[in-house]
Amino acid sequence: MTQLSRYPSPLRYPGGKGKLTNFVKLLMIENDLVGHDYVEPYAGGASVALSLLYEGYADRAFINDLNPGIHAFWSSALTQTDALCALIEKTPVTMDVWHEQRQIINSPEAQGLELGFATFFLNRTNRSGIIGGGVIGGLDQTGPWKIDARYNKDGLIERIRKLGRHRGRVVLSNEDAVEYVAAWNDSAADPAFLYLDPPYFEKGEGLYDNFYDAADHAQIAESVSTLAHPWIVSYDARPEITALYPDATTIRYGLTYSAATKRSKGAEIMFFSDGLAVPEPMPGDVTTKQVDTAKRLLLA
Ligand SMILES: C[S@@+](CC[C@H](N)C(=O)[O-])C[C@H]1O[C@@H](n2cnc3c(N)ncnc32)[C@H](O)[C@@H]1O
Repeated sequence: MTQLSRYPSPLRYPGGKGKLTNFVKLLMIENDLVGHDYVEPYAGGASVALSLLYEGYADRAFINDLNPGIHAFWSSALTQTDALCALIEKTPVTMDVWHEQRQIINSPEAQGLELGFATFFLNRTNRSGIIGGGVIGGLDQTGPWKIDARYNKDGLIERIRKLGRHRGRVVLSNEDAVEYVAAWNDSAADPAFLYLDPPYFEKGEGLYDNFYDAADHAQIAESVSTLAHPWIVSYDARPEITALYPDATTIRYGLTYSAATKRSKGAEIMFFSDGLAVPEPMPGDVTTKQVDTAKRLLLA
C-alpha cells in the first residue's frame, strides 16, 4: 500500500480517526449504505471521508468544519488546487516562514488561500499538528526532529491534487454542527450516513481552537436524536457523555492516538442510531481482509 492511499488527508489531526476507516466501511456494507452520501459535520482532517470517497463507498463526501482555518484549507485545496500546490512547492520550510504563518493565523483579516496555506503549514510543522501549538524541534530547532519532519512536499502535493480531481463529489461547508445537522432533516429523501466526531469532552480545550462546553455536547445529542438519517457519534468515554445518549446502542473500545509528546490509550465510545447493525469487530481492530470479505459477500 502506498503512502498516498494509507494517508489520504493532507492534514495531520490530533485524535484523527483514520484508524476507524475500516470499521466505517464494514458498517456501511452491513447496513446497505455503500454508494450513499457520507457526511462529517466535524470534519477536521477528514481522513475517513476521503478514503470512503476515493474507494467508492461514498457517492459524495460532505465536509463541514466551523474552524475558519480548517475550512479555508479545504476550500483552497478544492477550488484553488494549483495555486495551493504552487505555494507549497515554492515556500521554504524554515523558522522565518513559520513565524510569518503564525502571524497570518493570528490575524483576524486573514482569509482564503492565505489562511488555508497558513493552516496547512502550521498543521504540518507543529507538534501533533496542533495549529496553535509549538513547532517540531522547538523554537531553537535543537530537538531530534526538525520543522520539516512531517513536510514531505511531493507526497502532500500529491494528496491535494488527488482531492482536486475528486472535487466534483465533495461538498464543503463552514457551519456550526448543530445547525448543519438540523438542516439534513430538511433535505434529500435518500438516506445519507453521518459520522459525528465532536471535540472530546475532556481534551477538547488543549487540542482544538473550537471547544465545546457541556451545553454544546447536550445540544448535538439532542440534534441527532431527531435525525432522519443513520448516524454514529464517537467520543471519549465519559459518564457525562453517555448520559446524553441514553437510548443509543453503545460500544466502548480503545484507540491508540498521539497527542502532544506521549502516546496514550484512550477509552473511546461510539453511539449508533436506532436500527443500525453494529459490526462485530471493535473499531480500530477491523482488518482490510475483513472489509474485503464483507465486500465480496455483498457482491456475490
Ligand atoms: C475531533 S475533531 C475531528 C477530527 C476528524 N474526525 C479527523 O479524523 O480528523 C473535531 C473538529 O470539530 C471542529 N469543530 C469544533 N466545534 C465545531 C462546531 N461547533 N461545529 C462544527 N465543527 C466544529 C473542530 O474545528 C475540529 O476540526
